[in-house]
Amino acid sequence: MKRNILITGGAGFIGSHVVRLFVNKYPDCRIVNLDKLTYAGNLENLKDIEGKANYTFVKADIADLDTIRRVFQEYRIDGVIHLAAESHVDRSIKDPFCFAHTNVMGTLSLLQAAKEYWESCPERYEGKLFYHISTDEVYGALELTDPEGIESPFATAASSSEHHLAFGSEFFLETTKYNPHSPYSASKAASDHFVRAYHDTYGMPTLVTNCSNNYGPYQFPEKLIPLFINNIRHGKPLPVYGKGENVRDWLFVEDHARAIDLIFHKGKVADTYNIGGFNEWKNIDLIKVVIRTVDRLLGNPEGHSERLITYVTDRPGHDMRYAIDSRKLQRELGWEPSLQFEEGIEKTVRWYLDHQDWMDHITSGAYENYYNDMYAGR
Ligand code: NAD
Ligand code: TYD
Repeated sequence: MKRNILITGGAGFIGSHVVRLFVNKYPDCRIVNLDKLTYAGNLENLKDIEGKANYTFVKADIADLDTIRRVFQEYRIDGVIHLAAESHVDRSIKDPFCFAHTNVMGTLSLLQAAKEYWESCPERYEGKLFYHISTDEVYGALELTDPEGIESPFATAASSSEHHLAFGSEFFLETTKYNPHSPYSASKAASDHFVRAYHDTYGMPTLVTNCSNNYGPYQFPEKLIPLFINNIRHGKPLPVYGKGENVRDWLFVEDHARAIDLIFHKGKVADTYNIGGFNEWKNIDLIKVVIRTVDRLLGNPEGHSERLITYVTDRPGHDMRYAIDSRKLQRELGWEPSLQFEEGIEKTVRWYLDHQDWMDHITSGAYENYYNDMYAGR
């Protein structure tokens, strides 16, 4: 059992769900959340657990090797769940260097600090684990060979009740060759390679998982679903890139967090697992589901906000289709997503509408003061 767990990027979207799950589920473990608090880091995401005795927050850059070395020593870290990253494709197109700094140099610094500390322990790598959270985007893009969709052969609990469609017969497998296209996915691919290199070269116990698009509460409103929910609420245009025909495979974030917990404790060292829910949607169809749900919950007539759909210039190099085959994880570790897509979307839309303060603090910038107000000088 790992006792002192370092979770990086815990103030972000997925990280905050992982931190909450671990702090509540493992009261005997110390959970150290290390986050730089970039624009995407928001400690308001963790208000409900920040007073817990087994929770510690450290504000630091993962690329700051000296600080990371001190954190390993001070907290005697024996397990790492590494989520900190620059995560938005559009930003990576504008500023790729920032992605190389955090995703590549940051991951390398964490690996090096873990190596030095663990090799200095009498038991060395015994009982240690460096678990790296990655994305399906490293595999590149699949073709849209069936634009109308075919019946998916692998429906799961996370699949839509409306359709079980696949938009092609190919899926990303753990053995699929890396072929990243965006600066974001290139930087994540590089970091995945470094993680595996530390296993192959130094014998460090590592693990990598590659997950599909997540949705749910606490996602920064630059990403499709929270951005569109907020814009619908304010009657603002919904910018659909290109023709809206790109396909993404959506998974509820708490199901991802449960998979991370399972893999951290039961996954095979040096292995890779894909995580996804066999839940493919064309962007435009997904957007219509979001519009329908928001309109219903706001009491608007059906279809009211469809007038906000605005087709805009496509994202450069926009990957056409992501679709992940996660049967290995189901088969070997028995993971199953718990929420059906329509339930997940309903829960997500309700959460954003019920937490307008959270959204307003982001759009006003007030969330950036939370650390100084609550932590500085402690
Ligand atoms: P996010 O952008 O919401 O959060 C990232 C967090 O990392 C933020 O809290 C930010 O402050 C922190 N951070 C950024 N740079 C840092 C640095 N240099 N040092 C320390 N902290 C830093 O991202 P997310 O959507 O929660 O994604 C988390 C991880 O999961 C990422 O590694 C991402 O590649 C991966 N992932 C995301 C998705 C998705 O759909 N969101 C899917 C698959 C994999
Ligand atoms: P996003 O949430 O940025 O995730 P990713 O690029 O990592 O898949 O985008 C999801 C899909 O939605 C992607 O195909 C791009 C598209 N999109 C839009 O059409 N409009 C938008 O304003 C955004 C943010 C994304």
